Amino acid sequence: MPTPSPSPALTSKEISDWVRKLNYGTWKFQKSWSPLHVVDAEGCYFIDGQGKRYLDFSAQLMCVNLGHKNQAVIESIAAQARALPYIAPGYATEVRVDLSRLLLEVLPKGLEKFFFATSGTEANEAAFKIARMYTGKTKIIARYRSYHGSTTGSIAATGDPRRWAMEPAWKGNGVIFSPEVNCYDCPIKHTYPGCGIACADYLEHMIVNESDVAAVLVETVVGTNGVLVPPPEYFPRLRQICDRHGVLLITDEVMSGWGRTGKWFAIDHWNVVPDILVTAKGITSAYVPLGLCATTSKIAAYFEDHLFAHGHTYEAHPMTLAPAIATIHEMQRLKLVERAHELGGYLGEKLQALTKRHPSIGDVRGIGLFWAVELVKNRKKKQPFATYRDKIEGKPLLVDQVAGAMMKEGVCIQSWVSHFVIAPPLIITKSEIDTGVAALDRGLALADQQVET
Ligand SMILES: Cc1ncc(COP(=O)(O)O)c(C=O)c1O
Repeated sequence: MPTPSPSPALTSKEISDWVRKLNYGTWKFQKSWSPLHVVDAEGCYFIDGQGKRYLDFSAQLMCVNLGHKNQAVIESIAAQARALPYIAPGYATEVRVDLSRLLLEVLPKGLEKFFFATSGTEANEAAFKIARMYTGKTKIIARYRSYHGSTTGSIAATGDPRRWAMEPAWKGNGVIFSPEVNCYDCPIKHTYPGCGIACADYLEHMIVNESDVAAVLVETVVGTNGVLVPPPEYFPRLRQICDRHGVLLITDEVMSGWGRTGKWFAIDHWNVVPDILVTAKGITSAYVPLGLCATTSKIAAYFEDHLFAHGHTYEAHPMTLAPAIATIHEMQRLKLVERAHELGGYLGEKLQALTKRHPSIGDVRGIGLFWAVELVKNRKKKQPFATYRDKIEGKPLLVDQVAGAMMKEGVCIQSWVSHFVIAPPLIITKSEIDTGVAALDRGLALADQQVET
């Protein structure tokens, strides 16, 4: 089928220029933005206005888990548009029942009541309000290496410097930060396993010394900030700590959910059930905007006699729910959770092998089809090529240079400060993994030249 073009008279350059002129480019100095004109996408590839194909090695923003243009999901959107494109959230619909019952099957057991939002950040906002209303407490303990979204509450809970623009006057109140779990570059200078998971103990110290803590908020596997996978003891310990102090555990699975780590949800690796789980992105393979805030029935019971003081016009929007059902069915039909587990080993080995050839690689870590390659000037000192401040100040970054070189070769990869996040669609094949890793291999020559000798 020919690709529909809304502006056939415009060249690719004109389309890029118009977008740049009339729209904001997110999280960047506007003068540095020159958006690539994209006309089509299929499977693990997208195609630019010149007809050039790019392997989508990070599934856009780690979200197109089914790959592009999955026909079953597309059909579900069309069918729902014909059946009932919109009805207010106060009404009951079959599509809502069908998705909710499917969620009971795939989510960690014990999460039994759902609020549907239209993004990860909104789902987090719902989680914070629910936690605060339920506990009657205010504070949320988040971690420095984290991203939870751009709206007022979520950006206040974001540990990374995307928060800084709101500090201090415009930042939402009530969030404090604990050290993250980072066994490669521990913020409190411990070494696993000798540390005895001191980062979790310190978090308990914070709960004890702060009054009024409603919840602990963690990305189950930290995403953009470097695919930080906690050691086996971390989540069971965190669960005990939260229970001991009557604090809720909120796990943000916006990026790590939906098969990405080789389980339906990353928390399943630790057999821990959070009080609230937040997710989005892969829930519809990003074809339509949907976020989910799932709670236990204990939390749900509280709101039987208390006002559930939250909502949106687009809550439980039928057009967002139908593709989530289709996405789950497609994941089951194609056995994508199992596939992410199996292919994750293959991708991990290939990335690990790069460390031998490239002195610029400090660490390779990951789980399932979710990996980070961290670059360092000096492997011994674990010194990155750039700091978070460099990123926020718009300084040119080496990782962006490497990603640019890979783009020229037709491989798109997400770069962030001094690492890459590799998270391809879960339908990726071994030979496509080979292509992506080979492009990274060549691109890293640029970084190797800048290693301190
Ligand atoms: C872990 C995590 N939480 C929340 C968000 C925010 O999601 P959204 O961009 O849909 O608001 C993101 C986005 O990347 C994320 O990675």
